[in-house]
Amino acid sequence: MSVSAAATAEASEYHSKDFNWETLRQEIENDPSLKYHLLPFPSPQQEEQHSKDSIKAWQKFHNQHSSGKFFKERRYLLKEFPELVSCGDGCKVLEVGCGNGSTARPILRGNKKIVLYACDCSYETLERAKEFVAGSNIVLAEHRFRPFYCDFATTGFPKWLACEYRREPKDQNCLSDVTENKSHETDAWPMEETSGCVGGMDFVTLIFTLSAVPLQTMPTAIGECFSVLKPGGMLLFRDYGLYDMTMLRFEPEQRVGFREYMRSDGTRSYFFCLDTVRNLFIGAGFIELEIEYCCVKSVNRRSGKNMQRVWVHGKFQKPT
Ligand SMILES: C[S@@+](CC[C@H](N)C(=O)[O-])C[C@H]1O[C@@H](n2cnc3c(N)ncnc32)[C@H](O)[C@@H]1O
Repeated sequence: MSVSAAATAEASEYHSKDFNWETLRQEIENDPSLKYHLLPFPSPQQEEQHSKDSIKAWQKFHNQHSSGKFFKERRYLLKEFPELVSCGDGCKVLEVGCGNGSTARPILRGNKKIVLYACDCSYETLERAKEFVAGSNIVLAEHRFRPFYCDFATTGFPKWLACEYRREPKDQNCLSDVTENKSHETDAWPMEETSGCVGGMDFVTLIFTLSAVPLQTMPTAIGECFSVLKPGGMLLFRDYGLYDMTMLRFEPEQRVGFREYMRSDGTRSYFFCLDTVRNLFIGAGFIELEIEYCCVKSVNRRSGKNMQRVWVHGKFQKPT
């Protein structure tokens, strides 16, 4: 089967309402063995240090998984966000925290008119994303895929993404003050855009990236996404939902905040309820268009165990 036929088949099988989230909530909240997940978290955190540690942990993660195969291509994405298929000539999309391009590739493949900007806080993963896109038989990929390095939660996006006036691109660096081995830097990752200014995005995709950012940094991070969108532009969101089975697997000592956990490799994950997502986006100035839990049941091939996955799906618009 060709890649696009496989993508269509998988997307058409995609389902999102296998069980009721409210029933799951009651089960979890009445299970004494899971009570520790519900406890308030005692000490507030030091935001700045946690942001730096989080970036370093992601950089280490990508260096350790340098084959870049960790995140699978998200083939359901265009079914969830059909507006990406219908946007026309000159459509600009920013994929935030692009990793190896698992979200970038289906978008580029699904609509030849899209120019896709993609950032990450790891040079290693940007290299992989570039290679994977180049090897994916995507029409005009080398012109339409524009990766750049950025820690959007701490330093924000480079000015050239949204500015309305011309500037010399070399002044527009978006470099984190977190030091990574920057052997890939500046020649390989010029802070493009050669034309100087891009003029804002039609869409921003935030797909399993916000949960990777410390909770206290989220309002700033979302404000950055708001600021690079054109008026009327949309933010497309998907991320871990409250009581997803991966949350319930964390041990008490892995809690680093309320509904916030740290994996053994130092990367973080937050699990969102609808109200948290709603408050964060509305607080940044967005209008809510859609928000819901996606509840998907699957079976672990090795253990045969049932897995109840919960994600939050949302669409938010910048007012015109
Ligand atoms: C779980 S992955 C999601 C990748 C991709 N969006 C997808 O759909 O699979 C989260 C990504 O966010 C990146 N990331 C985490 N914090 C970031 C930050 N502050 N700025 C930019 N990227 C960040 C990580 O390096 C990682 O590649």
